[in-house]
This record gives sequence, C-alpha cells and structure tokens, in this order.
Amino acid sequence: MLICKTVAEVKTAVAGLRKAGTVGLVTTMGALHAGHMALVAAAARDHASVVATIFVNPTQFGDAKDLENYPRTEAADLAMLEAAGVAAVFMPTPDVMYPAGDETIVETTHLANILHGAVRPGHFRGVATVVTKLLNIVGPDAAYFGEKDYQQLAVIRRMVADLFIPVAIHGVPTVRDADGLAMSSRNVRLIGDERYDARVLNLSLTVAAAMVKEGATIEVIAETIRGVIASKRGATLAGLDIVDAETFAPVTGVPTRKIGIMIAVQFMTVLLIDQKEITP
Ligand code: PAF
Repeated sequence: MLICKTVAEVKTAVAGLRKAGTVGLVTTMGALHAGHMALVAAAARDHASVVATIFVNPTQFGDAKDLENYPRTEAADLAMLEAAGVAAVFMPTPDVMYPAGDETIVETTHLANILHGAVRPGHFRGVATVVTKLLNIVGPDAAYFGEKDYQQLAVIRRMVADLFIPVAIHGVPTVRDADGLAMSSRNVRLIGDERYDARVLNLSLTVAAAMVKEGATIEVIAETIRGVIASKRGATLAGLDIVDAETFAPVTGVPTRKIGIMIAVQFMTVLLIDQKEITP
C-alpha cells in the first residue's frame, strides 16, 4: 500500500493505478471502523483500485475542543486499509490541504445552512471545500460516502452536480452494531451507561418507520421520537428533522412520498447522529 503525504505523490500513485483500470475513492477522517470498511468494500467491488484518504479536516469543526478530541488511530487505520487491499492512502497535513494564501471555499448555499447545517454553522462548507479538493487531487472515477451522514451525502451530490465534477457519487448503507447503534468514530467516547442508552437513536427511528407504514402524521411521529429519546436521562435530543427525501423540504401531515428522518442526540460529551429513509 502506497502512503502519500503530498499532492504530487498521490497524483503519481493514481496515474500508476489507472493503468490497471478505474479508481474508487473513500475519504475519511481516520478512526476507522466497520462503517468505513463497508465503503472500501463497495469501492473495491466496482473498481480495479481503491484510494483512501485520512485527513481530520479542521474547517468542518466549529469547536476547537471537538477537533482536538477527535480520535486519531493512524497505525490501526493503516493496518485496516492494507488488510482490505487499498492500493494507496493520501494522508496530507493541514498545510498541504490549506497552504498559505488559501482562500477559496465551496458552499451549497441552501442545503449547507438548513437542518443540521443551521445548528453547525460552517460545517458543510468545510466538508464541501475539502471534498472538492480531495476529488480534484485524486481524480477518481467514483467516490463512496456513508448514508448515515444523510445531509452530508446530499450536499456532496448537489456540489458535484452543480460544479460538473466528473465523478460518480455512491451512498453506502449505514453499518450498525448488533444492538442497532450506527457505527461512528465518536462511539468510543461514550462513557458508562451512555453506550447502552445510545441504542435509543436507532430505536426511535425504528418506531418512527413502523408509524409511517401505519399512516401516522409527521407531528405524532415527531412527538413519539421526542418521547423515546427523553426516556433516557443522559440523552438530549439536539436535532430532529423530517424531510422529503428528494427535496429536503420539511414534511407535515401524513407523508405520501419517501421521507428522511435525521436525529442528533447529545450525550455528556458526544453528539451522535442517525438517520432513516422511509417510504410510506
Ligand atoms: O464523513 C467524513 O468522514 C468527512 O466529513 C469527510 C467526508 C471525510 C470530509 O472531511
């Protein structure tokens, strides 16, 4: 597995890999888990070579403490990527991605600032900017992103379409622990009962899905989700958005088209998110 630290190194590596066929890209911030490896597996199924990136992107963190506390497990990450057959890893430092004088940003002006974006100002701008840079540097045929980050995936699809970036974007279903908790690099920071209580995210979404199928209104479903989350003392609902899956517009009444439910739940020091798409 080639380890590339500079733009020139990864460009040379990709040019070599291209001789064997197409290239799939998996972008990560490290602290890899089975969810990331599902992205790698999907890319490997479709392409001759997989390139992964590991970069904890400072511009998508609003809070310096959150950036500082983000888990970093480089040796284990590289071992996992190598075992999965990844051909090259791009691990830039912040000054490679944001060299002196850097001033250009990429922003999906509407999608980035609604819902989850409204409570994390600048977050999706940081994601869109870094993903544009990574796509331009690596130049893959396709890139793979987790469906768990529901709004992030929508932002990336929008940005790639709007900027005519020649890459196919694939969403990969969320990987869950046996008890339903969506895999996340943040899960390791749950303490004491929090890991047990964190099941409440998937539980509330599962209850909501059953209610959609039974014809309940969005208002009743939202109230039920609030109740399920409130049943855990250490869990505070930080965000609940129920949107049309195509347009991301809020939905009211009895849904008639596919909807997406996004929840964010705050534990003592960790914010967890989860999502579910449901067709009535
Ligand atoms: O989903 C992530 O891990 C990050 O937001 C991404 C896409 C790698 C951009 O930094």
